[in-house]
Amino acid sequence: MYKIIPVKPFDLILLGATGDLAMRQIFPALYRRFQVGQLPPGSRLVGAARSQLSTSRFRQCVRDAIRTHVLAEMQDHQSIGDFLKMVDYARLDATSSEDWKSLSAYVDPGRVTALYLSVRPGIFKNIITSLKEHRIVHDKFRIVVEKPFGFDLRSARQLNAALSAVFQESQIFRIDHYLGKETVQNLMALRFANVLFEPLWNSQYVDHVQITVAETLGVKGRGEYYQRAGALRDMVQNHLMQLLCLVAMEPPSRYLPDAVRDEKLKVIRALDTVQYDHIVRGQYIAGTETASFADDVNTPDSKTESFIALKCQVRNWRWAGTPFYMRTGKRMRCRMSEIAVVFRDPPHSIFGSKSVLKGNVLAIRLQPNEGIDMRLTIKEPGPGGMRLIDVPLDMSFARTLAVGSENLTNAYERLIMDVVRGDQTLFMRSDEVEAAWAWTDKVVETWNEHNLQPISYFPGSSGPDDSLMLLHRDNRRWREIVC
Ligand code: BG6
Repeated sequence: MYKIIPVKPFDLILLGATGDLAMRQIFPALYRRFQVGQLPPGSRLVGAARSQLSTSRFRQCVRDAIRTHVLAEMQDHQSIGDFLKMVDYARLDATSSEDWKSLSAYVDPGRVTALYLSVRPGIFKNIITSLKEHRIVHDKFRIVVEKPFGFDLRSARQLNAALSAVFQESQIFRIDHYLGKETVQNLMALRFANVLFEPLWNSQYVDHVQITVAETLGVKGRGEYYQRAGALRDMVQNHLMQLLCLVAMEPPSRYLPDAVRDEKLKVIRALDTVQYDHIVRGQYIAGTETASFADDVNTPDSKTESFIALKCQVRNWRWAGTPFYMRTGKRMRCRMSEIAVVFRDPPHSIFGSKSVLKGNVLAIRLQPNEGIDMRLTIKEPGPGGMRLIDVPLDMSFARTLAVGSENLTNAYERLIMDVVRGDQTLFMRSDEVEAAWAWTDKVVETWNEHNLQPISYFPGSSGPDDSLMLLHRDNRRWREIVC
């Protein structure tokens, strides 16, 4: 099943190596790539953080992370041991010149060095300056930047300016892990490798598009960050915006980084300012066993949204008149992410007025059970006349491709290997990030002008009722959030 594109030995230096993302996602992803033979011998994986740790202690932490976050059937005692031999630890206090000098010993200009920043954004600039001062950067050097990429347009511009003072754009990899998800890439394959959909992919045939990213978790443990960010900045500015771009963009001439990113950028720039009555903010209250958002962020009078729903318009020839509805929230009924393209109703029914014909729906499921589902109307089998029913034409990737969903490459595995290969197709370019922030800032301005406060919703629900109204007013309804 696996097709591996070989890479030459490389060095990956991970700053923030003792943090949650490193342990939950990055090291488990690297281990999986090692296991399938994609980390060539001689590669080095160097964790760097402020804690004073020996390499053997750090390796133990990585071992525990693999034990916890890699599926049991994918773990193998021998291969974990071999993998850990590649792992090293370097203490790094970003303000210490001595520490930077020691770290530079791991940099070999003859091969790829990927420096992964999994640290709080406050120290990005400090790090970038130190890299320059200590002459650590070389031609094959790549920098990987995790979100949040700024807090608004101003801070994103400052960050881009700081990066471009030291790096070429081709060396900067701004991660949005949604772009690494299997189904997200499949959306491009579906649209541009089949002739079936593209002729219908416009406002003449598509009634509207729904993008939902619902999560069951709250924000406990990330309170400080989340109280400042909220759902709009945390999820919409990046993940949902990228999904919208992939649905709405024109076909790029080639599957090449700039060709794809040029088209995404045009979509973001074509997005209209969202009207105030097309924004619904929500905040979860306490449940029987869960704390309220205000308690989770430790701010009793918090006005931050843990849920947001928006109605957006892409002002171009293809999409004029087809709204894109987006919603995302924490502590919702289920963990479910999908893009649903809802087609218009057939213009006329030959089956008489009793048979109400419904528009087809193409749903692209990101999680759980990644796949594509198309709803078609057919005749109900058996006697009794021409009775019509709605049935799914379901394609679960795991089932159709006969792979366990655990074997579908996860986003971080794919994105880290893309960094090593130098392929930026699934990473955001500076102008894209800035355009997304420019649009986001206007949403914030609008809700401030109209004093839109978050509306309470129950944990385990689909968000505030007002978000249902957003579609009801247009004679439409959200698809159900089902597990
Ligand atoms: C992160 C957000 O970028 O994405 C989190 O900061 C969110 O708040 C997460 O929970 C969702 O990612 P996934 O892959 O679990 O859908």
